[in-house]
Amino acid sequence: MTRPPRRPQRPAGGPRPPRRKPLDPARRAAFDVLQAVSQRDAYANLALPALLSERGITGRDAAFATELTYGTCRVRGLLDAIIGAAAQRSPDAINPVLLDLLRLGSYQLLRTRVDAHAAVSTTVEQAAIEFDSARAGFVNGVLRTISTRDEASWTAELAPDAATDPIGHAAFTRAHPRWIAQAFADALGPAAGELDAVLAGDDERPQVHLAARPGVLTAAELAAAVDGTAGRYSPYAVYLSGGDPGRLPPVRGGQALVQDEGSQLVARACALAPVDGDTGRWLDLCAGPGGKTALLAALAAETGARVTAVEQAPQRAALVAENTRGLDVQVLTADGRDTGLQPGFDRVLVDVPCTGLGALRRRPEARWRRQPADIPVLAKLQRELLSAAITLTRPGGVVLYATCSPHLAETVGVVADALRRNPVTALDTRPLFAPADQLGDGPHVQLWPHRHGTDAMFAAALQVG
Ligand SMILES: C[S@@+](CC[C@H](N)C(=O)[O-])C[C@H]1O[C@@H](n2cnc3c(N)ncnc32)[C@H](O)[C@@H]1O
Repeated sequence: MTRPPRRPQRPAGGPRPPRRKPLDPARRAAFDVLQAVSQRDAYANLALPALLSERGITGRDAAFATELTYGTCRVRGLLDAIIGAAAQRSPDAINPVLLDLLRLGSYQLLRTRVDAHAAVSTTVEQAAIEFDSARAGFVNGVLRTISTRDEASWTAELAPDAATDPIGHAAFTRAHPRWIAQAFADALGPAAGELDAVLAGDDERPQVHLAARPGVLTAAELAAAVDGTAGRYSPYAVYLSGGDPGRLPPVRGGQALVQDEGSQLVARACALAPVDGDTGRWLDLCAGPGGKTALLAALAAETGARVTAVEQAPQRAALVAENTRGLDVQVLTADGRDTGLQPGFDRVLVDVPCTGLGALRRRPEARWRRQPADIPVLAKLQRELLSAAITLTRPGGVVLYATCSPHLAETVGVVADALRRNPVTALDTRPLFAPADQLGDGPHVQLWPHRHGTDAMFAAALQVG
C-alpha cells in the first residue's frame, strides 16, 4: 500500500534539501488507510487490520493508528468544513492526498490529546516529503489556523443555527451528513428529541455480541466459557467485554456465532411468528453471509423444520453454507426475485439489502459514502424482494421483512406498498421481540442502538391471507 514519495529528484549539483522525517508507523498506517478509503473505496475496518498485521504494528502503536483512522473517517465531513474555513477554499479544490493529510492532522488537533506541535509538525514534514515545501507551507498554515481554536469554537461558528435548523445543527456537531440526521429524525417521529443520542451512538464502538447455538449450548454456558454476560433480550445472547471473538473456542468450534443481538431477535421472531399447521418449510430469501440463517436453522431443527437459504452473490452463498455447517439447510445461489422455488413456505425471512444506516457505528466511513440517491434504487429492490417473499408463502404463513436501516423509505414505505398490493395483514410484531420494550407504536418494530444496544434493525411480520 505504501507509495513512493512524489518529491521530484534534486537536479545534479542543486542545493541539498532539508532532511525530512517521515511519519511514524502509526500515523503512516492511518494515512495509508485514509487514502485507500478516499481513493479506492476501501472499508477502513477491513483495510486497517490487514495493514497493521502486514507491517507488524501492535500494542500502543496499533491502538493509536486505530483511533486516528476510525476517528478521522467518522468525522470526515466535519473536518472538511473546518479545513475549508481555515484554508479559505473548498476542500474539493485541495489535492486529495493533501486533504487526507490535513484530515489526519486536524483530527489530532481537535479530537485527541496529541501535543499540537507534534500534530502539526509530523503532518507538515509528510507534506514536504509527498509534495514540496510550498505545499508543506500551506499545510502548516491551515493546521496552525485550526489549532488556534477547539472543536466547540469551530462548530459554534460553522454549524447551522440550532434555533432555525435543529437537525442541520445536530448533524453538523455530531459529524453526520444532514440527510442521514433527517432520516433518523423522521424515523424517531415523536421521539425526535433522541436524535442527538442516536447520532452520538454512531461514534461509539459497539459491544461484541455472541449467539449461543440453540440445542448446542445455553447462553449461561457460553457466558461462563467466554467470561461474558448474558444478553438483555435474546435468550441466546452473550455480551463480551473485549478481545478478539474469532479466537474464542466456542466461536471457532461453531457452537456460537458473532451476531448483533438485534439480528438474533429478528431470526427468533421469524421462528416465533404464529403460523397454524406449520409444515416445516422455512425460507431465508436474502441469506448471505448466513448469520440469521444459522440461528433460524438451529431453531428449525428443534421442531423438525428445514430451511432453504437463497443468496444472489456466489461468494456470500458459500459463506451461508460455511456458517450453517452441520445444520439442515439447503443453500441456493439465485436472485430472490426469481428463485424457481415451489411456493408454499410456512415462514419466510427476507432480510433485504439496504443502506445500512442502522449500523453506521460498525463502518467508520459509511456515513459519508452513502448517498440519498441510493435510497430509491434500494427501495425498489426491497419492494420486489418482499413481493417475491409473499408469493412464495402459503396462505396462513408469515413473512418477516427485516432491514438494518431505520430510513422510512426502506421500512414502512416498503411494507405499506406490500400491504396495498398483496393479500397480507400486518401482525403486531412487537410481542415477537419480547422482552425488548420501547419498540415504537407498532405494529412494526424499530430497534435503536441508544435504546437497546443493538443495530437499528426494523422488522415487520406480515401474514399471508
Ligand atoms: C442484509 S444482507 C442479509 C444478511 C443476512 N440475513 C445475515 O443475517 O447474515 C442482504 C443480502 O441480500 C443479498 N442480495 C442482494 N440482492 C439479492 C437478490 N436479488 N436476491 C437474493 N439476495 C440478494 C446480498 O448479497 C446480501 O448478502
